[in-house]
Amino acid sequence: MSEKKPHIAQKSPFAVAVEAGKSYWCCTCGKSAGQPFCDGSHKGSEFTPKEYKAEKSETVYFCGCKHSGNGMTCDGTHQKL
Ligand code: FES
Repeated sequence: MSEKKPHIAQKSPFAVAVEAGKSYWCCTCGKSAGQPFCDGSHKGSEFTPKEYKAEKSETVYFCGCKHSGNGMTCDGTHQKL
């Protein structure tokens, strides 16, 4: 498998109010027009969306740079890109 780098959607997180019990499909390729979520743009690439299950209703900072070490949420990696 090649180590293709994801596209950087933006170098900052997206703040989203999630609802407890809901699943959200996070864009990992960086090409979705509906950031931070998947819109199917990954088709034909090796990227697939990742499921984020909200355990409680809160504001989540989803990674916009797609290089976060923890996958879906911002861990500050965007500051080093
Ligand atoms: Fe990707 Fe912060 S937006 S680590």
